[in-house]
Amino acid sequence: MRMPIHEPRPDAEQLAVVLVGLPARGKSYIARKIGRYLAWLGWSTRSFNVGAYRRERLGSHHREAFFSPDNVEGRRQREAMATQALGDLVDWMQAGGEVGIYDATNTTRARRDRIRAELAGAGVQTLFIESVCEDPALIEANIRETKLSSPDYAGVDADVAVADFRARIAHYERAYEPLGEGETSYVKFIDAGRRLEVEGLRGYLPGKILSFLMNTHLKRRPLWLTRHGESLYNVAGRIGGDPSLSALGQAYAVQLATFMRLRVGQRAPVVFTSTLTRTRQTARHLSGPPGGPEAGPALPPPVAWRLLDEIDAGVCDGMTYEEIAEQLPAEFRARQADKLRYRYPRGESYVDVIHRLEPVILELERQRKPVLVVAHQAVIRALYGYFKDLAPEDCPHLPVPLHTVIELRPGPYGLDEQRFTLIEEP
Ligand code: F6P
Repeated sequence: MRMPIHEPRPDAEQLAVVLVGLPARGKSYIARKIGRYLAWLGWSTRSFNVGAYRRERLGSHHREAFFSPDNVEGRRQREAMATQALGDLVDWMQAGGEVGIYDATNTTRARRDRIRAELAGAGVQTLFIESVCEDPALIEANIRETKLSSPDYAGVDADVAVADFRARIAHYERAYEPLGEGETSYVKFIDAGRRLEVEGLRGYLPGKILSFLMNTHLKRRPLWLTRHGESLYNVAGRIGGDPSLSALGQAYAVQLATFMRLRVGQRAPVVFTSTLTRTRQTARHLSGPPGGPEAGPALPPPVAWRLLDEIDAGVCDGMTYEEIAEQLPAEFRARQADKLRYRYPRGESYVDVIHRLEPVILELERQRKPVLVVAHQAVIRALYGYFKDLAPEDCPHLPVPLHTVIELRPGPYGLDEQRFTLIEEP
């Protein structure tokens, strides 16, 4: 199990996030988003999906009749899968896991009571998250976008699969008891986040999850990430500082404006930069000339955000890596040994950068418009690591070349990524 990198807490918290809701209500999507967010912040997090247990252990051939509450054998088998997944979650938490996510329908009160009791017996706090959605268009979209590509319907005609899935939902509806009277510690996430209902929420992690749910939504839009153009420090091999762009870096600023204006289409993105000269110079043509009307409409003026400033190299600011190795060899070696946790004397570590970027992540989750972020190597690595659901350990080593725009388009199963190199490395 990875060593946690989250901020130390006065009391060790172990939390099970238990999803509740009818099929096709976006439970797994919510589960994945919460898992990704907490894992990125350094909490050891694991998801246990009962549907995946069923497919792995019983096969993926089950049609709607299997899910009927009147199907005694089906019910027994489904209960067995739910029990196994919960048992594995409890075992994992007893081995030191911090956030276990139990992704299943859990639509009956009896089932939830059993879950609550078992988790309490293991000393684990429970937070229920019920996804409620009555909007037929959202349900239809969810079935078509996620269920048709499920292994359950491999090779089945789309309309037949949709009809079968609707019948499956109807079986669950017959037995469905929403969270309510007498139940506690829950959030109802209603109509894809348009409304939230909260009951008896306590603790640090539930509070964090709530603020995340309040910001997130299901609307899809692209995100573009880029480092600034080449700076005079990049040319000299120096880190940190507040240098201006080199001539090549300035050429990238022009190319970026042309590229983005053609790329964004009708929906103008929000543009964020850091407060440092090199990102502001890189973004400066986005909202004005050059380019002309044939290069598409200008973008709104960038918003400069200090949270997006580069990792603070402390006493090493302005040095080359060779100088650090020569003058501060112990520091150099310590960073090589653990680049994620290593903190520059009077500066920052990658862990610090990740934690300071948390409000940026919430803002990116909250934004409904497309977003372009013009920032720095360490910062782009940390943001990219979040969106790609990468282990924090991997973030400090990710390749993020200069003069390249990374385009991320979120979808139900992760992200489509495209990279555009506007100027080849010299
Ligand atoms: O070299 C450019 C730079 O942005 C420096 O300012 C910063 O210290 C460094 O990259 C971060 O990369 P790494 O963590 O690999 O040293």
